Amino acid sequence: MSAAIEIEGLTKVYGFGDEEVKAVDGLDLSIGRGEVFGFLGPNGAGKTTTVQMLMQIIFPTSGQARLLGSPIGDISAREKIGYLPEMFQFHDFLRAEEFLDFHARLYGMPAAERKRRIGEVLELVGLKESARSRIRTYSKGMLQRIGIGQAIINKPEVLFLDEPTSALDPLGRRDVRDLILSLRDEGTTVFLNSHLLSEVEMTCSQIGILNKGKLIRLGDIESLVQPTHCVDIRVEGLPAEALDKIRKVAANIEGNNGDMTVMLKDEAQVSLLAKIIMESGAVLREFTPRSQQLEEIFVQSIEESGA
Ligand SMILES: Nc1ncnc2c1ncn2[C@@H]1O[C@H](COP(=O)(O)OP(=O)(O)O)[C@@H](O)[C@H]1O
Ligand SMILES: [Mg+2]
Repeated sequence: MSAAIEIEGLTKVYGFGDEEVKAVDGLDLSIGRGEVFGFLGPNGAGKTTTVQMLMQIIFPTSGQARLLGSPIGDISAREKIGYLPEMFQFHDFLRAEEFLDFHARLYGMPAAERKRRIGEVLELVGLKESARSRIRTYSKGMLQRIGIGQAIINKPEVLFLDEPTSALDPLGRRDVRDLILSLRDEGTTVFLNSHLLSEVEMTCSQIGILNKGKLIRLGDIESLVQPTHCVDIRVEGLPAEALDKIRKVAANIEGNNGDMTVMLKDEAQVSLLAKIIMESGAVLREFTPRSQQLEEIFVQSIEESGA
């Protein structure tokens, strides 16, 4: 079976001359069916532009893509796709159930099936009690949830969510996260644009990091996190010579010499690090080895790529 999403050399250039912006630059990506893919990147990296090309809202300057084995734009594939845009604007005079009905009609769903599916979706996004309220009276969290509701009304095989939680408070974020997890359990492929690392860490099986239109990292969380080991250290009276020795074994050091995170290339160096500090006569307050966090990988990748 073909992959859910296949992207080859996808490129979008906005403007021309001095104002030319390469928003997406030769993107290659393949996402398997049933995967939850986290597309990470700072603001302006090109995440929204990528999804807009896949949704045919804008057209690529060059390159191509296939969804569920068909060229983008092919009707048979589009029927199986759901999309929540980044800055959506809904018909807010509609009641939630009317709004979902409108979207279900766009997919040509018969009346009886619409009624059943709308009930199911309202239940899934936790808006059953507010089904008859007008969308204009909804809070931000409710809006985001009804937005996801319209994106899944057709039971999509592939779901695109562009920053679905950026406007939400922690509780709203948790709701959306749980929703993504239950869709994943049902086998839905999810393409999640986000700059929120913890959300991606908790829901995604695969991660791509985009910067200035280029894919700079790609892999599953384990393979991205593994190579470096971190130690959080709090220490008093660390002599300069000892710090120099630490610099030699470290891949990277963050913080000042009293309170720092030391990143090592392999686990064997953890005891070497401890030895250097103990032999220096400094007072050790904390020494906590841990694996690298996605945030550190993100920042490091962006820095290495020359942002
Ligand atoms: N319609 C447009 N016209 C010109 N430049 C644009 C347009 N849309 C986006 N851009 C530029 O393309 C780059 C990528 O933007 P975008 O895809 O929105 O990034 P992200 O979603 O990762 O924040 C940015 O530099 C942005 O300013
Ligand atoms: Mg965006």
